[in-house]
Amino acid sequence: MRLSLFVACAPGLEGLLQGEVRRVLGPRKKCEVVAGGVELTGDVAAVMRLNLELALASSVRVRIGEVKAKRFDAFARKTSRLPFERFIDPEREYEVRATTRHSRLYHTGAIAERVAWAVATRLGRQAPPANPEAGAEQASPSVLHARFVDDVCTLSVDTSGAPLHRRGYRLESARAPLREDLARALVEVSGWSPGAALVDPLCGAGTLVIEAALLARRLAPGRSRRFAFMDSPLFDPALFAEIQAKLAARASPCLPVRLVGTDRDPGAIEAARANAERAGVADDVCFAEASLSDAPSHWPALTRESALVANMPFGQRVSRGQPLGALHQRLGALVAALPERPRVALLVADRKLAYLTGLDLHPAFHTKHGGLSVHAMVGHQTKARAPSVRGQDDGPSSEAAEAGAARAEGQGASGGGGP
Ligand SMILES: C[S@@+](CC[C@H](N)C(=O)[O-])C[C@H]1O[C@@H](n2cnc3c(N)ncnc32)[C@H](O)[C@@H]1O
Repeated sequence: MRLSLFVACAPGLEGLLQGEVRRVLGPRKKCEVVAGGVELTGDVAAVMRLNLELALASSVRVRIGEVKAKRFDAFARKTSRLPFERFIDPEREYEVRATTRHSRLYHTGAIAERVAWAVATRLGRQAPPANPEAGAEQASPSVLHARFVDDVCTLSVDTSGAPLHRRGYRLESARAPLREDLARALVEVSGWSPGAALVDPLCGAGTLVIEAALLARRLAPGRSRRFAFMDSPLFDPALFAEIQAKLAARASPCLPVRLVGTDRDPGAIEAARANAERAGVADDVCFAEASLSDAPSHWPALTRESALVANMPFGQRVSRGQPLGALHQRLGALVAALPERPRVALLVADRKLAYLTGLDLHPAFHTKHGGLSVHAMVGHQTKARAPSVRGQDDGPSSEAAEAGAARAEGQGASGGGGP
């Protein structure tokens, strides 16, 4: 069955998602970037693979059909002719989410009600409430999207259920955890070569390090979770088992070098270790409690193929009272002190703070995170520009930064830290 698909992602990640879809379904796959995601066609196997393998997507939707209408009676009648039975199990509850723009029919509640009536008529069952209470959540609820634009309503069904960034491993989080899809996007744009070292000196619950390990080991991000399509007529258990077996067979063995996350918060380190265990990458990563200045003492030798990635505190939730500028300057000084400069990728809410690192960084994408606009700033350092900052970020531990820098110089650093 040829299906028309829309894969949704966080705003700003569409181009990266297009590349990822082509890595999953083949480099010549026709896949068009649109606002909020990509559009393509595919069969049921493609729906399963996209759900299992995409790390940057938030959901995979199948288009059921389009209805042009300017009156509710015509809308309900035409909608009831769509083949809902191919996508919705009559025994299951579902939720209708309606949006409307530039259309005569603008009352989203009334649109959702008509869709619920049309589905019930088509499936020969009682119409459920158009929007069941949030508390009445199913294991993998079906969501029907009704999107009116210029008097044409596109109806599609979500095949993912819980958003795809919920891989199932992050049951424990530290303060201000980064969404898994954004973590993966930051690792991707860092230019890191999987197989080389990667470090995150502000790792929190370990999301960046764990996502990097999953990427390097070619472990499908959705392999341990359920999807809404598993409760729909689209589901073919034998095909799904076959796809899962193929994905498991292509996973690489343990990484040659452990990826390292450090954080000064012991609770965060505990959470990161538990999350890595659940993600199946505990042997590929190493988490340790350390202030930013002490972090280099935990790093393996970094090369030009390595990466330093970090989700910097945005100042809203994590770092009230902490001088954020000094933290960024300290990070820049640590990188500048290294004998070989790794690639750097930082997620920041304020680009000016990223420039305070003194590193050569440029914007790679910007998106939304927890209602904030955030920027991925990336760069590959060639020259020493970072200012030397003494101990403004984490007090006594700053001495260790000087020790780290001295160690780095002892290893034959050229162009070490600071002016
Ligand atoms: C935005 S959070 C990182 C969240 C992480 N990416 C995740 O997904 O959980 C920033 C982290 O930086 C840590 N941090 C802030 N200042 C630090 C310092 N000077 N040294 C070490 N860690 C620090 C905080 O404890 C916090 O966990």
